[in-house]
Amino acid sequence: MIKAHGYAVQSSTSNLQLFSFERRDPKEQDVLIQILFCGICHSDIHQARNEWGISLYPMVPGHEIVGRVLQVGSKVKKFKVNDLVGVGCMVDSCRVCFSCRHDLQQFCEQGATLTYNSYEKDGKTVTMGGYSNLIVVNEDFVLKISATNNLAGTAPLLCAGITTYSPLRHWKVGKGTKVGIVGLGGLGHMAIKIAQALQANVTVFTTSIKKREDALRLGANQVVLSTDTSAMEKQVKNFDLILDTVSGDHDINQYLSLLKTDGTMVMVGLPEKHPTINLWQLLGRRNISGSFIGGIAETQEMLDFCAKHNITADIELIPIAKVNEACARLVKGDVKYRFVIDMSSLATG
Ligand SMILES: NC(=O)c1ccc[n+]([C@@H]2O[C@H](COP(=O)([O-])OP(=O)(O)OC[C@H]3O[C@@H](n4cnc5c(N)ncnc54)[C@H](OP(=O)(O)O)[C@@H]3O)[C@@H](O)[C@H]2O)c1
Ligand SMILES: [Zn+2]
Ligand SMILES: [Zn+2]
Repeated sequence: MIKAHGYAVQSSTSNLQLFSFERRDPKEQDVLIQILFCGICHSDIHQARNEWGISLYPMVPGHEIVGRVLQVGSKVKKFKVNDLVGVGCMVDSCRVCFSCRHDLQQFCEQGATLTYNSYEKDGKTVTMGGYSNLIVVNEDFVLKISATNNLAGTAPLLCAGITTYSPLRHWKVGKGTKVGIVGLGGLGHMAIKIAQALQANVTVFTTSIKKREDALRLGANQVVLSTDTSAMEKQVKNFDLILDTVSGDHDINQYLSLLKTDGTMVMVGLPEKHPTINLWQLLGRRNISGSFIGGIAETQEMLDFCAKHNITADIELIPIAKVNEACARLVKGDVKYRFVIDMSSLATG
């Protein structure tokens, strides 16, 4: 076993604190990765605080990982020592079910092994995430990162990037598609950049009027304050697709009415309290769906798309000693627009 250390929570009410644990010795298809940067996703907070009721402790969160290959197993084909690589929300899946065979590992019928707060295929080893110095991952779940001078800004693509890219592509967003993005946080700001690169017409719905200028700078065509009833009424039946990235309790019915006939609202945000649906809004032949991260091939496609379009996240880089403070600020919506932990700060404390 390999000695590793990181920051873990011990219970739903504890802060993240220094924690020592072990990673498996790399098997023949494994890659040992030194973690350089890890983004802080709101899902890390939902899970650390057991807001979804599925948490395993101790928990080392983190699934927006960028690092460098330290060692490869004898049968590893895709990677060599020193390569820059990424790891997102999954580290394994069954490989043989319909979903896995169709590059939809996130929907694996046996349940994909998530990067943390999940069980490995042995059914008993709990996975530990990226708020740590090292990780060992099967090469099939490791992504290639092309040379970039903004590695830290690339880390959030591994979750926020793919979670927004996948539905935008699945629902065929392209030139002139009218897209609404609800919530301007980590996912929301990536959604604006990607939808803009796909040449959509992008409207951001925010509860924070102070984010208006940022939304426009990030590429939105317009910004609507969702608490402004008359501004919302002007948007009725205006959208082909609305992507809801909100992390907290909110009314989704006010957005359903903004869809055109046959338009679709896609839920990617996963608040603790689930919203209720007003069926009258659906009778206008409107669709509601959800989307969960993306498959490995699609994640690589997204990374290549972002490299081509020069898309990275707007980040606040922090040393790991500030991780609890950063989580508290994230819950208050006070981040522009993703915290990323500089993992070199772990060695020195
Ligand atoms: N489906 C998936 O695969 C997937 C993957 C990753 C994350 N997620 C989930 O997606 C959600 C967003 O994650 P994130 O990292 O982007 O979070 P985030 O950075 O905290 O952004 C969430 C945004 O939602 C808005 N918001 C928060 N609470 C609200 C409330 N009570 N009412 C209205 N608006 C509110 C805020 O935007 P404004 O200030 O602009 O209103 C906030 O910035 C989380 O629930 C996360 O667990 C899902
Ligand atoms: Zn995430
Ligand atoms: Zn499977």
